[in-house]
Amino acid sequence: MFMISNAGRTSFTWFGTVPRVTITDPEMVREILSKKFDHFGRANISPLGRWLASGVLSYEGEKWAKHRRILNPAFHAEKLKQMLPAFSACCSDLVVRWANFVSLEGSYELDVWPELQSFARDVISRAAFGSSIEEGRRIFEHQAELANEKLCWAKCGFLPTPRNNRVKAIDREVRSIIGGMTKKREEAIKMGGESKDDLLGLLMESNMKQYQEHGNKKAGLTTEEVIEECKPFYFAGQETASVLLTWTMVVLSMHPNWQVRAREEVLQEFGKDKPDSEGLSHLKIVTMILYEVLRLYPPVILLQRKAYDKIKIGNITYPPGLFFALPMISIHHYQELWGKDASEFKPERFSEGVAKASKYQVAFFPFSGGPRICIGQNFVLLEAKMGLAMILQRFSFELSPSYTHAPHIHINLQPQHGAQLRLHKL
Ligand code: HEM
Repeated sequence: MFMISNAGRTSFTWFGTVPRVTITDPEMVREILSKKFDHFGRANISPLGRWLASGVLSYEGEKWAKHRRILNPAFHAEKLKQMLPAFSACCSDLVVRWANFVSLEGSYELDVWPELQSFARDVISRAAFGSSIEEGRRIFEHQAELANEKLCWAKCGFLPTPRNNRVKAIDREVRSIIGGMTKKREEAIKMGGESKDDLLGLLMESNMKQYQEHGNKKAGLTTEEVIEECKPFYFAGQETASVLLTWTMVVLSMHPNWQVRAREEVLQEFGKDKPDSEGLSHLKIVTMILYEVLRLYPPVILLQRKAYDKIKIGNITYPPGLFFALPMISIHHYQELWGKDASEFKPERFSEGVAKASKYQVAFFPFSGGPRICIGQNFVLLEAKMGLAMILQRFSFELSPSYTHAPHIHINLQPQHGAQLRLHKL
């Protein structure tokens, strides 16, 4: 459970040498993310952050708008349906693996956090790059190594220390892997082949449309830019998805009545068959549960923005260059917005949709808001529904006595000591 102080809606702090205003009023959050979007940029991030969060995640202004326009069609709900077989294959691998563990003893204790991390990696690798799973895995291994180098590199990225040289070598290797995949696709398309139904294929298809519609090369992305756009699929798509599924399993272990309700819904819709996209869109209880988990345990806990110019938010005018923090996790827990039971797990608050769940429509924003809203939200909700449905079809689960509840921030909101659950085969 989180302890949130309701003291003050807007506060000012020094973050090292940087002045920072923290905004917790949902209306003011909306002003920053949506209404006055043009006046803000994303706050500066560390060199590691810049490497991990490259492409559209890091751009501003016209460059961001152009890249976002080209990426959008690849994440359209209709296009995502084409990726369902990839999601389904990854889910099957996961549940078959777990079933093998469980069949030895009838039940089995497992830390599901690393399991779901590896599941989310496979999903991104297959959904983003189709058959090139091995290359995808190599990118993740490099990324994990980079995340461990975080502190040193963030402080002295430009010095030719052995660690910094290693980071640069990793960067070259990742570019060359993604560059190789992109080149193969370009050649296949030039030879008259179809672009594939994965994110890379859809991105290249959308990019080519831009070339054709505008008749000039500048309208599309260069190969180098396509490579930069593939990196955030890994960074933004993996850890977030795996923590969402992990917290969902933890919370459903703490609230077995909701686990039963979710399973009943899934079995009613699919029986023991593989979930399809139409059926997934009917899962109301599962959706309410996922939203409530995203409210209580938002994978991204804070958004940051920097004002380009002098800006009025609420009744106060702020000077240019000021940093703003929007602490989503606090806003998701405010009693004034969510009621006295704000810190309790109550999926029923979403029974009439997101807009009616709190006193202000904009109090729930796990995927951010405005034009920079998470491009992958439909992708991850489909992935999570499919994953959860297939787990619920085959297993019941409860907390293990060795589980310690310790939400902890390491880039995302993670379970500090893992998520040890006992699985029972159904
Ligand atoms: C539960 C899972 C996820 C959560 C909670 C989440 C959350 C977010 C948030 C809060 C932002 C906005 C950051 C900001 O405004 O500063 C964002 C942006 C973004 N996300 Fe996600 N995300 C998730 C999954 C994904 C997935 C699966 C992908 C891709 C496959 C993805 C790709 C992106 C990209 C490319 C952006 C940048 C959009 C832009 O700046 O225009 N995300 N995400």
